[in-house]
Amino acid sequence: MEFKEVLNKRRSIRKYQDKTVRKEDVKAIIEAGLKAPSAGNLQPWRFIYTYNQDKINQAVDTTYRGGNIHSDKNQDWIRKAPVIILACIDYSKPVAKYGDHGKKAAIQDVSAAVENMVLKVVDLGLASCWISGFRVEELKKVFKVPDEIDILAFLPVGYDDGYQRKISKKDISEVVFKDEYKKEANNF
Ligand SMILES: Cc1cc2nc3c(=O)[nH]c(=O)nc-3n(C[C@H](O)[C@H](O)[C@H](O)COP(=O)(O)O)c2cc1C
Repeated sequence: MEFKEVLNKRRSIRKYQDKTVRKEDVKAIIEAGLKAPSAGNLQPWRFIYTYNQDKINQAVDTTYRGGNIHSDKNQDWIRKAPVIILACIDYSKPVAKYGDHGKKAAIQDVSAAVENMVLKVVDLGLASCWISGFRVEELKKVFKVPDEIDILAFLPVGYDDGYQRKISKKDISEVVFKDEYKKEANNF
């Protein structure tokens, strides 16, 4: 798919068809993540994928809605995803190399990987949604993620089942400045 089309087509999709996702596609999505840039090329990303419905349900049980971490309401629509991919962070090398800044760098590294993956999903004709509304410590238990490893986000992946929600993006003039913060960028 043309890059422009991928960018324009990408949306957070929250309704999936009852159709599985090929294992080769999951591999291709993760491989796109592995190609991301990372500070010092330390590649602190770690991924876990599962098709196991029981695990997916347990993962969804750790999610919450509306930004309220204590909410007992989950993001139940994720249960219909045939596969989910977790993006974890191993801070050890970035922190050893860069001190406190290493943590911030590692978050950026893994975010870059996740964005690559989200775009690859679209390229493959699939759909996903970036999920970070979950209780990390609970989710770590589901996947036996060790204490020192963090989970940044996970992606449910499936085929779009006609999910439609209009999303407006800010106009370029609202968020782009020239020379100084808040200085209007005319004639871009
Ligand atoms: C860091 C991050 C966390 C997000 N967490 C969630 C989430 O927990 N649940 C969800 O439904 N969408 C989540 N989203 C998706 C956003 O809601 C979505 O990107 C935004 O509304 C813009 O819509 P679009 O992706 O279709 O452009 C998240 C996105 C990002 C980047």
